[in-house]
Amino acid sequence: MLSIEKGVSLKPYTTFGIDCTAKYFCAITSVSDLQELISTEFFNNEKHLILGRGSNVLFTQDFDGLVIHNSIKGIETVSENDEKIVLKISSGELWHEVVMHCVKNNWGGIENLSLIPGTMGAAPIQNIGAYGVEVKNVIDRVEIIDLSTSVIRSLSNEECRFGYRESVFKHELKKNIFISSVTLTLTKKNHQINTSYGALTTTLHQMNVFEFTPQTISDAVIKIRTEKLPDHQKMGNAGSFFKNPEIAEKLFHQLQLQYPEIPHYPSANQQVKIPAGWLIERCGWKGKRIGDAGVHAHQALVLVNYGNASGEEIFSLSKKISAAVQEKFSITLTPEVNIF
Ligand code: EPU
Repeated sequence: MLSIEKGVSLKPYTTFGIDCTAKYFCAITSVSDLQELISTEFFNNEKHLILGRGSNVLFTQDFDGLVIHNSIKGIETVSENDEKIVLKISSGELWHEVVMHCVKNNWGGIENLSLIPGTMGAAPIQNIGAYGVEVKNVIDRVEIIDLSTSVIRSLSNEECRFGYRESVFKHELKKNIFISSVTLTLTKKNHQINTSYGALTTTLHQMNVFEFTPQTISDAVIKIRTEKLPDHQKMGNAGSFFKNPEIAEKLFHQLQLQYPEIPHYPSANQQVKIPAGWLIERCGWKGKRIGDAGVHAHQALVLVNYGNASGEEIFSLSKKISAAVQEKFSITLTPEVNIF
């Protein structure tokens, strides 16, 4: 039975912990709940927003419409053999819990993505990535529901057009669709262990780990993330606030002359990816605080809510940071977080 509540605070539903209100709020626990909801006249008259764990959003004002909270759970084995397992995972499952379930069963492929907040359904939208791995590497299919017609469609990995923090779900399929499940293929043996990321290699060494398994890699990633990234349950945040900018090689070479130590990674189309955290730190913003809005002391790419910051205050801080990076480096930062 669907229940639509009025005037609900979104503070517990976003990891930034910002107090703002949804005009209407409805939690759904099944695809049929969603289909029932979208067949109503009420749904068609209100603007709507789908929220998973709210770990990549910043509300700068109350939401004047219907927030649909996705609580659809379930992990189903589609097929398996000695080498691989295919899992169909409902979109409301929490991503880190999915990772822990797989690591515990020694299913490999997503261990580098441990401790990323958010839901399964949100993961393909921005193609979550960390420590040399992106979720696109293990995604087979993404099932979506058209919110106008209720029609269910299954997209192949290719049709999702994944890129760095990018997918078709940020473009043509940004509006009017709901991701209902994601199908992943994971390894049961001969795991493709990825320790290419510098910080991961160093941490595994410090931990005296020489046997690389989904479990040991996951433990190391959890150690790094816990040390560097704030726990949103203690200090509101949405992970990286900006994307790492990709700049032309020419600009990169000019910057490298001035800053020989500038960290950089190769990226597509002969561009160079620069860590935004480094740029922000060089502009003097790391650890700074304006009221309750701040820049995390251990990772300048993460903006934090020390308690009672408003969305506007966080957004205003982000604009000051972007302006400083633009002025010093002539590089435009783009938010990774969705701002409403
Ligand atoms: N750096 C600084 N100062 C800082 C932060 C970083 O100089 O304050 C430098 C580091 O020294 C290092 C480089 O920047 O040389 C990279 O830093 P880090 O390893 O912390 O990674 P990142 O590029 O800042 C990205 C992802 C993270 C992901 C990590 C690890 C983006 C936007 N962010 O951050 O993802 O966990 O790599 O793979 O691509 C997220 O998306 O929310 C997120 C946390």
